[in-house]
Amino acid sequence: MDRVGLAVFAEEVIQGLSTEPKRLSSKWFYDEVGDDLFVQIMKLPEYYLTDCEFQIFEQQRQNIIEGFDMSGKDFDLYELGAGDGTKTLELLKGLRNVEFTYKPIDISIHAINNLERRVSREMPNIQVEGIQGEYFDVLAELDSLKPKVILFMGSNIGNLMDSQANDFLKRLSRVMNPGDKLLLGVDLKKPSAIVLPAYNDAAGITAKFNLNLLTRINLEFDANFDLHRFRHAPEYDEERGWALSYIESLVDQEVHVKALSKRYSFKKGEKIFMEVSRKYDDDTISAITQNTSLDIVSKFYDQQKYFCDVLFEKQ
Ligand code: AVI
Repeated sequence: MDRVGLAVFAEEVIQGLSTEPKRLSSKWFYDEVGDDLFVQIMKLPEYYLTDCEFQIFEQQRQNIIEGFDMSGKDFDLYELGAGDGTKTLELLKGLRNVEFTYKPIDISIHAINNLERRVSREMPNIQVEGIQGEYFDVLAELDSLKPKVILFMGSNIGNLMDSQANDFLKRLSRVMNPGDKLLLGVDLKKPSAIVLPAYNDAAGITAKFNLNLLTRINLEFDANFDLHRFRHAPEYDEERGWALSYIESLVDQEVHVKALSKRYSFKKGEKIFMEVSRKYDDDTISAITQNTSLDIVSKFYDQQKYFCDVLFEKQ
């Protein structure tokens, strides 16, 4: 990470661990180890989100691409939070004879490099230009008159609270021109028995993924979080549709973050809030898109209706 990024991370760690209740942001999950763990999560039997969205692309690729309405136009295809690209490549298969530049954006340079290599290997005819950065910071890069389609898949939007998601979509819409499209993947509300295991898998990968942020703080800031003294503790509020991820302290303890000259005490049972993974319905989709000038063109569901890709057009 560059010096500016590290300073922001440090500031957020200090702020987050000094407030009550304590919190850390899931956007810091994605170092090299975190990226690899997330790729493993996407392959877990309990983590239905990826399979559902893959199925949508596999079975409805042509309808989605028709909905983009970009035939005959040279356009930019942006992807926010690109990850490993497995699902995107499934969609790109339908764009073989179309002129466009694929511009994946990810906070992780490791993910971008892997993705660029993968696209060049598997689909050598596609022009790809990766961009590294945080969603909020790279919006200016999208501000051009060239027609664009923006992919924001995987329910990545669900890692923002609703007000932040609405704020983000308003800003995203401002860099879109009339006729530009946004394909937004959202995980839908459903019973706890399906959602909770997706965030508490039997193999313990999600626990590792969550706890890896403490390891990252140990490495970046010379801290002494003892991973045996914390546990991954996810919850799901079925009515509201919030999957919430916490790390719980198993004992009374103090943690020293040497490089930041800070000490934090934790009570036994105290939780650090790590991540929200929002599950949506029509009302919450409307709530996050209000005052954005984005109109729904169509909705694409998997067979079980667990997940939805919503296609929007800028007015
Ligand atoms: C990236 N994001 C949509 C994932 C999710 O489902 O919220 C991150 C994740 N956290 C735990 N498992 C997966």
